Amino acid sequence: MHTTVKKPEGKLGVLLVGMSGAVSTTFLAGTLAVRKGVGLPIGSLTQMGTIRLGKRADNNFPKIKDFVPLYDLKNLIFGGWDIRDENSYESAKIAEVLKDKDLDLVKDELEQLRPFKAVFDKKYVARLDGTYVKSDTTKAGLMEQVREDIRNFRKDNNLADIITIWCGSTETYLKASEVHDTIESFEEGMKNNHPDISPSMLYAWACLMENVPYFNGAPNLTLDIKAVQQLALKNGIPIAGKDFKTGQTMVKTVIAPMLKTRMLGLDGWFSTNILGNRDGEVLDDPGSFKTKEESKLSVIDSILQPELYPELYGNVYHKVRINYYPPRKDNKEGWDNIDLFGWLGYPMQLKIDFLCRDSILAAPLVLDLVLLGNLSQRVGFSGIQEWLSFYFKSPQHSEGIVPEHDLFIQNIKMKNTLREIMNEEPITHLDDKITLFK
Ligand SMILES: NC(=O)c1ccc[n+]([C@@H]2O[C@H](COP(=O)([O-])OP(=O)(O)OC[C@H]3O[C@@H](n4cnc5c(N)ncnc54)[C@H](O)[C@@H]3O)[C@@H](O)[C@H]2O)c1
Repeated sequence: MHTTVKKPEGKLGVLLVGMSGAVSTTFLAGTLAVRKGVGLPIGSLTQMGTIRLGKRADNNFPKIKDFVPLYDLKNLIFGGWDIRDENSYESAKIAEVLKDKDLDLVKDELEQLRPFKAVFDKKYVARLDGTYVKSDTTKAGLMEQVREDIRNFRKDNNLADIITIWCGSTETYLKASEVHDTIESFEEGMKNNHPDISPSMLYAWACLMENVPYFNGAPNLTLDIKAVQQLALKNGIPIAGKDFKTGQTMVKTVIAPMLKTRMLGLDGWFSTNILGNRDGEVLDDPGSFKTKEESKLSVIDSILQPELYPELYGNVYHKVRINYYPPRKDNKEGWDNIDLFGWLGYPMQLKIDFLCRDSILAAPLVLDLVLLGNLSQRVGFSGIQEWLSFYFKSPQHSEGIVPEHDLFIQNIKMKNTLREIMNEEPITHLDDKITLFK
């Protein structure tokens, strides 16, 4: 593949659905602090990561942001939607992730940011009540209002590009149905207020109609339906999801490949989480929890391939629990108990207790997805961006292909895609070959 990348010129608009939430406000405050030179973008591969070029002996490791043409942080303009009418400084205070001393460094900038009214329906997020919401007689009308927001945002800020990231709440569990099958059936469904069309789908549709890539940080069905995927391909727009891979699943996608690489067996994996933020409250509803559970459960089977290794992984008991526990706020505890077995079947146990901070882990992923998602569009990629699987708990993939969950394989895949984009040789890690055969 020989690619030419359109250089970033002008400003990139970043639209966040759920702009007043914990992840969004932590991302906003952090990105503003980094560009002011008062914070470090820890956890962001695009800002801190390097990429090896050529042979190991060449010793050439530029920073990713110096290697691929990404928008500079100073050229990002922020906007978004939420169901609450607060500026981003007020929302960040309510989210209680960052300390006042950190928020105050970017108070003026945060106070300038205020969401557009949301498309919201309590039917899809039972634990929330929206007051700052759009109204219309049809879902088609609501979708058109979102398109208008996007057009105004583009015009008012004179933007060259826009990207949208869903950082909103997890919607109730929905299954793909006939209305999701084609562009025509979906358009008809919006006009008839079909119940299987959720607000997140209306945002995605509006974005794809306005030439805006849409990335899904929650486990919502949004981008998995055929109609949305067809529209993305028809209009030549990148999409990717779903569900940011932050705490427990990040750990899982490192430990499970370790067991498999060493051919160690697994009897059971019990994962439990306690968290006390608004996301935890939303996930306390059985409908929203089911959506999250499906996303978290998908990981182990596809890494361990029980069909190839029935003696090792043919009978794994995998359980995931999430409990709302207000005292912990955004500081989640993700606890894993792993029952494994080794030589001649002798049992062992591994326990992991990750005292993490949910939004601190998610914010750098939002930044990377903003920059790399926009890069995809400038390169001319469209449809599902499998090369960005690294960022997702339940990565989307082409039909007939199993998803790649292993964090390090995902990382290699992403870096090799960046090399391809810049017309550099992919790295196979075989450069010792020459010495071996001498
Ligand atoms: N933080 C993590 O580690 C992590 C990891 C993976 C996925 N996620 C997902 O990211 C999402 C955001 O997490 P959070 O902790 O910021 O939650 P949050 O509850 O703090 O924020 C969600 C925001 O979305 C808004 N919202 C809900 N429905 C909306 C709609 N239809 N339109 C516009 N705004 C809407 C809410 O008002 C809220 O401000 C959740 O779905 C969560 O499951 C988070």
